[in-house]
Amino acid sequence: MTKKRLPTFHGVPSPLIYRDGGIDLIDQRQLPSKLVVLRITDYVDLADAIREMKVRGAPAIGIAAAYGIVLGMQEEVKRTDLVDRFAQVSAELRGTRPTAVNLFWAITRLERIFQRHKNDRPASLREALLTEAKQIHEEDVKGNQCIGRHGSAILPQDARVLTICNAGFLASGGYGTALGVVRAAWKQGKLSMVYVCETRPLFQGSRLTAWELSREGIPFQLIIDSAAGYLMAKGRIDAVLAGADRITQNGDVTNKIGTYALAVLGDHHRIPLYVAAPTSTIDASLGTGDEVPIEERDGEEVRAPLGVQLAVQGARVWNPAFDVTPARLVSAIITERGVLRPPYHMRTEN
Ligand code: MRU
Repeated sequence: MTKKRLPTFHGVPSPLIYRDGGIDLIDQRQLPSKLVVLRITDYVDLADAIREMKVRGAPAIGIAAAYGIVLGMQEEVKRTDLVDRFAQVSAELRGTRPTAVNLFWAITRLERIFQRHKNDRPASLREALLTEAKQIHEEDVKGNQCIGRHGSAILPQDARVLTICNAGFLASGGYGTALGVVRAAWKQGKLSMVYVCETRPLFQGSRLTAWELSREGIPFQLIIDSAAGYLMAKGRIDAVLAGADRITQNGDVTNKIGTYALAVLGDHHRIPLYVAAPTSTIDASLGTGDEVPIEERDGEEVRAPLGVQLAVQGARVWNPAFDVTPARLVSAIITERGVLRPPYHMRTEN
């Protein structure tokens, strides 16, 4: 087992940090068996890391893309070629994954800085881009700590919650969104159990969420995804806690495939679904979830999960990575600014 120290940012573990002209990035494909921290200095390698899900989770890929722009613009480029270079770097990063809006939101923020500083001295331009990327990172960590406090306040005492995928520190700048709520509730003595859906086909629940919880001694039990309904029927869940990849103007929530099924089951059993997400996940330019581009991934992830051949070779597979939960099934959206309740009228403020 390769042992490496976790990157930390503003005192909390983070999936990636910028250091001395490069990025230290946890390779999440290798967790939990190996903690490998990659060193990335080239923006194309960073784009590959997002595509291959070495870094994943909506806020984390936004932050990664922001640092990716910094890497792409740090090489010496002739002043006349700067605009073309920025276009090339941002197009490469925009083309990595289509669903999480945080990626596009972060690149747009860097683009504004580029426009403002493109005629400055190259060193000043680079400094301004790096400062903005670090600012996005810091805002995310602080925002998640607020999400944690707001979310914990609406949970009952001794809460038993159900989670899907990984919306922890690994999926964000640090601290986590849905797991930020779990962390805050645990610290306040309000939490009794986290049920963790394994989250096929890439197992972000069993590989990543369980790893995060076990590191901190937070009590959890893993379940197979299809056990969620029976667990609810047994009266063992007080709330479903999920993250989000994009929230549209009407409050529809796009998140990891399986979230919609949990929402329908929760509705049937009168269990609330709380979605924890920073405002950078809101895309008010889209009216409803029907307009969100849903990533469909390679069928090999389902035929041979984590490389273990389970299905006949060549079996046809439909493998959407996300689904859309209609707003009417979302009991509350917990943001860094407070808790929103239906009816939702989302605005993009940045
Ligand atoms: O495909 P992934 O692992 O990037 O999907 C991640 C999720 O769906 C998370 O729930 C979402 O990005 C929120 S992370 C704070």
